[in-house]
Amino acid sequence: MATTIAVLSQKGGTGKTTTVRTLTDVLRRIDLRVLAVDLDPQGNLSDYLDVDPEATPTIADVLTGAATAGDADHGGVIPATLALAEAELILGGKIGRELALKQALRPLTQDYDVILIDCPPALGLLTVNALVASDHALISAEGQYFALQGVEQALEVIELARSTLNPDLQLLGIVLNIVDLRTRHSREAFDSLRQHFGDRLLDTVIRQSIAYAESAERALSILDYRPDLGEDYLGVASELLKRLGMKDARRKVKALRR
Ligand SMILES: Nc1ncnc2c1ncn2[C@@H]1O[C@H](COP(=O)(O)OP(=O)(O)OP(=O)(O)O)[C@@H](O)[C@H]1O
Ligand SMILES: [Mg+2]
Repeated sequence: MATTIAVLSQKGGTGKTTTVRTLTDVLRRIDLRVLAVDLDPQGNLSDYLDVDPEATPTIADVLTGAATAGDADHGGVIPATLALAEAELILGGKIGRELALKQALRPLTQDYDVILIDCPPALGLLTVNALVASDHALISAEGQYFALQGVEQALEVIELARSTLNPDLQLLGIVLNIVDLRTRHSREAFDSLRQHFGDRLLDTVIRQSIAYAESAERALSILDYRPDLGEDYLGVASELLKRLGMKDARRKVKALRR
């Protein structure tokens, strides 16, 4: 049975999609079967993972009931396009609207070890669907002012999902992303998150670098484009696998680091 993880943030541009893309890559390199689900009408994850922009069906068809998740699984990615914005509106008028993704993914949980869901930068119905469908939530926060506020709002939505439709949902962690530790902003963001959330904040931070935009442009993984920076994601993967109790996988990530 797959472990399903939603990656979310209250704000846009915190590095969610890059996190899902790179973790997908790391986990596939250690031979885990990973399904990446793009739940953002911007379709950035589908783009990063090189899905044909014309590929159909997409997650929009899945959520409106026009296709199964299996049909929309294009080589381990369920892509999104702008059609998802309309699908969200249609879904909003349906009974059981918060459960659509959970029900759709259920048949695929046998085929994968890990399902990673990339949420849109809003805490609306799509993100709620992701949280209801997930075992774990990973919050991405940008190493800037207001990081704390963003995390608190994301936590409120997680709490809402837990208190209503998904009591088993667990917070896997908070990752501080796009961090420049030479700046006071980033250091203060880390310190305040540590103070408020203790060890729920991962020790590993993702450093800021222009190499991320460059590697996305070249359709390369940061692990290949800049292995020195890729170390950050290997560190994050290792911490997450530890929390998930996936010891063998963690050992394999350690081997990748050498
Ligand atoms: N560690 C990093 N350092 C510098 N830039 C980064 C880093 N990670 C991602 N980026 C860049 O920041 C931008 C936003 O990243 P990304 O798309 O992953 O964020 P997001 O949270 O998914 O955004 P959105 O909320 O719009 O979906 C992209 O241009 C990406 O290349
Ligand atoms: Mg994104």
